[in-house]
Amino acid sequence: MQSNSKDLLGSLPTLSSLLKRDPISMETKVVKAIREKGVNNILKSLESSLRGLGEATLDVLSGLSVGRHVMIMGPVGVGKTTLAEEIASILALDNPPYIEVACHSHMTATELTGDIDIAVALQAGLDHPLAYIPGPLVLSHGKVLIMDEINRLNPYSQASLLQVLQEHYVYIRGFRIRSDFLMIATSNPAEYSGVYELSEALADRMKVVEIQYPDRELLKAILEWKANLTLSHIGVKTPSMLTEVLTNFITLMNQDGIIEVSPSIRASIYALANTMAKAWIERREPALSDLKKEVLANMAHVVRGSFSSEGEKRDYIARKFDEAVTITTRSGRR
Ligand SMILES: Nc1ncnc2c1ncn2[C@@H]1O[C@H](COP(=O)(O)OP(=O)(O)O)[C@@H](O)[C@H]1O
Ligand SMILES: [Mg+2]
Repeated sequence: MQSNSKDLLGSLPTLSSLLKRDPISMETKVVKAIREKGVNNILKSLESSLRGLGEATLDVLSGLSVGRHVMIMGPVGVGKTTLAEEIASILALDNPPYIEVACHSHMTATELTGDIDIAVALQAGLDHPLAYIPGPLVLSHGKVLIMDEINRLNPYSQASLLQVLQEHYVYIRGFRIRSDFLMIATSNPAEYSGVYELSEALADRMKVVEIQYPDRELLKAILEWKANLTLSHIGVKTPSMLTEVLTNFITLMNQDGIIEVSPSIRASIYALANTMAKAWIERREPALSDLKKEVLANMAHVVRGSFSSEGEKRDYIARKFDEAVTITTRSGRR
């Protein structure tokens, strides 16, 4: 046990080794990876987890291949985080291929850079592996840095990120550590709660790639595919009638001007999966009323729009759901 923890300690970088780092040309690494793998293979690998994001992927890749950081923008649940992770994994610029930070408003600059532990440094010396524990900005040297939901970062942490993007060095109590990485950030539109405005200087350093909510046909295909994948270990499949109703319901909501935030793809996948799992547990066939219940219970709190009360919002959602059922049965009869 003891030798194990000693080995582990030995695998941690020391401050002196970090200070000797060489610069890395990240764009060269990206171009080499794209050449070796081939764009078509990259797109094909991506299709195993995400659909309809080929164009966005090419936009991300073209940014990275000229050394530009990229920010994937779009509403909740359209696949931003998954896309960032998949691209980094497929490129595999290093091992591990990426370092990911789930950004939040209370994140401090030292959480991003890491800091020297004075007590350890005094007792065991500055070069003890535990005297300086590197933060993600230092750990991502040679890799992709995923800053998930970057616009949750407060202005202080944004400033520490900006510094390393500008200078390629992270400053820790006077020590200067080289760090070259390419950042893929994700961000939600400003109408979501708990987000800060990105500083102009930071926003200026990133190429923006926008992801839109998928259109009706694509949405239906994604829901069918992912709901059935979620249910595969149970051995049940969602009837296409349910998927059709849910797709029509979401499309109706998206088209309505009073809706600011519509249900996410993730919430929709789970609404279908939960409906099926409930019916399976009760050993019966799923009904439209089950799906409606799921929608009201699990989607109402996500939806945002100009409603005067929660009650009004629920009534609206119930009404739209019934409308979607009517549309679906009508088109089925034709
Ligand atoms: N275009 C898509 N194709 C397939 N699945 C998708 C797509 N968009 C979203 N999803 C599903 O929704 C889930 C949520 O995606 P996520 O990457 O967390 O979204 P975001 O980061 O935009 O909120 C994913 O796990 C995935 O199953
Ligand atoms: Mg996300």
